[in-house]
Amino acid sequence: MKIFLDTANIDEIKLAAEANLIDGITTNPTLLSREVERTGKGYKDILIDIAAIVNGPISAEVLSKDVEGMIKEARELQDIAPQIVIKVPMTFDGMKTVRRLEKEGIKSNVTLVFSAVQAMLAAKAGAAFVSPFVGRLDDIGHDGMEIVDEILNVFSNYDFKTEVIVASVRHPKHVKDAALMKADIVTIPFKVLMQLFKHSLTDQGILKFENDWKKVNI
Ligand code: E4P
Repeated sequence: MKIFLDTANIDEIKLAAEANLIDGITTNPTLLSREVERTGKGYKDILIDIAAIVNGPISAEVLSKDVEGMIKEARELQDIAPQIVIKVPMTFDGMKTVRRLEKEGIKSNVTLVFSAVQAMLAAKAGAAFVSPFVGRLDDIGHDGMEIVDEILNVFSNYDFKTEVIVASVRHPKHVKDAALMKADIVTIPFKVLMQLFKHSLTDQGILKFENDWKKVNI
């Protein structure tokens, strides 16, 4: 399973990249605006900095609601770096945009997906990626991972090539479940990435080995 980092924070990206841990990045307007505020840089410069570190896909989202507006923004984002993938919301105009972008050879990631039929429409439109938001579904009492399972089933029924990015991840169990379901990609916040390394028995084991070793090697 590929791991994307769900952040626009350059320090987090550098740390994860040093360990060769990430295959791509996802951003959204919330994450990018947070970094604009924090660093005082423009969003384009932030994306340029990210692209200098990460060779894999970097998702950046359009904000227009109409097709022409989305296409214009998509071309501007693509000009920043070739590995930029255009995040397009799951709307009627969004899917028309995805189709147009696909014809131009520009990859898109259909975002804000909350059902298997939405994912199917995105795949039919020619999206390279589709992002079901599992955490936001959990937040309203649904089972987000159940939707991922359904999407993976639908895609395998019809041999769609669209890759499934499990998004809106809140904890390591989402990551484990995504891997068990054979999702293509999981995009995770830095905090969750760090949690994946942790187990209390690992910490206890390290401490015990250290203490036992000290008894004979003072
Ligand atoms: C990634 O593509 C999404 O924008 C992100 O995972 C959303 O996460 P959130 O629901 O925690 O905002």
